[in-house]
Amino acid sequence: MLTLKNISQNYLQGDSTIRVLSKLNFSVNSVKNIGIIGPSGSGKSTFLNILGMIETPTFGEYILHGNNCFNLSQNLKTEMRRKFIGYIFQNNQLLEDFNVLENIAFPLILNGESFGQAKKKSLTLLEKLGLKNKKFIKPGLLSGGEQQRIAIARALIKKPFLLLADEPTGSLDKNNSLLVMDLILNMAKKNKTTSIIATHNLDIIKRLDICYKIEKGKLIEI
Ligand SMILES: Nc1ncnc2c1ncn2[C@@H]1O[C@H](COP(=O)(O)OP(=O)(O)OP(=O)(O)O)[C@@H](O)[C@H]1O
Ligand SMILES: [Mg+2]
Repeated sequence: MLTLKNISQNYLQGDSTIRVLSKLNFSVNSVKNIGIIGPSGSGKSTFLNILGMIETPTFGEYILHGNNCFNLSQNLKTEMRRKFIGYIFQNNQLLEDFNVLENIAFPLILNGESFGQAKKKSLTLLEKLGLKNKKFIKPGLLSGGEQQRIAIARALIKKPFLLLADEPTGSLDKNNSLLVMDLILNMAKKNKTTSIIATHNLDIIKRLDICYKIEKGKLIEI
């Protein structure tokens, strides 16, 4: 259902080229929860950005749902992302002009659901995350952990085929990390979502089906 072939990603930094990913191969053939670990700068976010079609690598091929993704037009990439992928970014990326409820409802509205229906579903998720009382607040007024929980709700609401989560519990305390991981894993199971989670948190790794370390630009199963 998902294959990366021979992915290399080089970046130019000043005068030098750094090789972050190097002939990396990765495939997922059934619904799974997958962990990605590796030291800071090893390429975890780069890897997730490539899977999310946010970055096109220097070399390589990406097959998702039978589509050769890097050959698609920008419009088709956007459509694939909207339909199939939920993304929890390392730095939230909530929309500042919209309140919490609208931020969560947004992906459903983009996919053609009515505003009323989208808001109703958002409220249910907000309740599960213990943030119902923040529904009309703009993201900038929330704490880092609260913003992260909103970003998680926004990624999960459309029940994506693929969930990409970049340190989803990075700014959460232990209780909220557990709550958020329960939510992600329960929803993944219920909706048959494959989740790929970059994390430093060993408690999370233990709960996933399989885990890879990024080393020298490649994935090594651990
Ligand atoms: N657009 C870019 N231009 C140049 N260099 C980049 C770019 N994006 C990432 N890099 C470099 O690629 C390397 C890998 O970055 P990446 O963000 O993937 O690491 P990471 O494993 O997610 O780290 P962290 O745990 O700190 O989030 C870093 O050295 C970074 O400086
Ligand atoms: Mg990162």
